[in-house]
Amino acid sequence: MRDMYDKNYIDKNIKVNTEILDEIDSTNEEAKRRILGGKCDDFSLIARKQTAGKGRKGRSFYSPKDTGIYFTFVHFTDESPEDLLKVTVAASVICAKAIKEALDIDCGIKWVNDLYLNGKKVSGTLCELILKDTFGNSRNAVIVGTGINLSTDDFPNELKGKAGSLEEGVISGKSIDNIVIGYSNGLHDFFLKNDLKEYMALYRQLSVVLGKEVELSDASGFLDKGIVKDFDEEGAIIIRNQSGEIKRFDSGEISLLF
Ligand code: BTN
Repeated sequence: MRDMYDKNYIDKNIKVNTEILDEIDSTNEEAKRRILGGKCDDFSLIARKQTAGKGRKGRSFYSPKDTGIYFTFVHFTDESPEDLLKVTVAASVICAKAIKEALDIDCGIKWVNDLYLNGKKVSGTLCELILKDTFGNSRNAVIVGTGINLSTDDFPNELKGKAGSLEEGVISGKSIDNIVIGYSNGLHDFFLKNDLKEYMALYRQLSVVLGKEVELSDASGFLDKGIVKDFDEEGAIIIRNQSGEIKRFDSGEISLLF
C-alpha cells in the first residue's frame, strides 16, 4: 500500500522546508519546541498521527493515524506581532481552496475558520504566536496548525453527529499531497503580503453563516444574538442584533440558530 504521503513529491513542490513525522503529541507543540530550540526559517510539519492534538479553546483535536492531515506551518516575522484573527481567517480560505483544487470538494466556512461539509465540521485551525523575547530570537513566530479529517469515521461520542470527513475511504494518492502543498504554499504567499483584503471575497462566498441568524458566545457565556451582515477586512464578524444595533466582534464563537 502506498504511504499516505509522497515525501519526494511534496519536497519538490512545497515552498518551505517540510518534515513528515510518524507520530507526535501535537504538531503545534513540536513546532514550538523547534522554535525554542533555535529554528528561524519558515517550516512546516506533518504528522500521520497525533496523540494529543489540540483544538481552540482548550479542546482536543481527534487525530487517529492516517485518517486526516495534521499540519503545522510556522512563519517568522520581524514585523510587530501578527494579528492572529487575520491569519486565522485567511487560513480557512486558503485551506478550502486547496481542498477544492485537489479534490473538487466545496467546503463552507463557519466564522472564524471551521470548514464544513454536509453540516459537519471537517477541518479546524489553531493559530498561536510566540513572541521573539520568549525565545531570544530576533523575530516573532506565527504558528498555524490545521487538522483536516479525510476519512476519520470513528469519532468519540462528544463529536458524533458534529464532526465529519471529506470523503470516507476514497481519498488517496497525490490528492493528499496536493492538499498539503496547496495549503502550505497558499499560506507562504499570504505571509509575503499579509493582506487579508484579497481573501475576503472568497471568504464571504464560502461563508455558511452570512445572512443567517446566529448566537455569539465566549468563555464567559452569551455575548449577543442577531443576523450576520458581513465580515470586515480584519476578519471580525458584523451582526445586526435583535435591538437593531450593528455590532462588531473580533473574538467569540458562533452557533447557527434555525
Ligand atoms: C479547532 O478546530 O479547534 C482547531 C483544531 C486544530 C487542529 C490542528 S491538527 C494540527 C495542529 N496540531 C495541533 O495540536 N492542533 C492543530
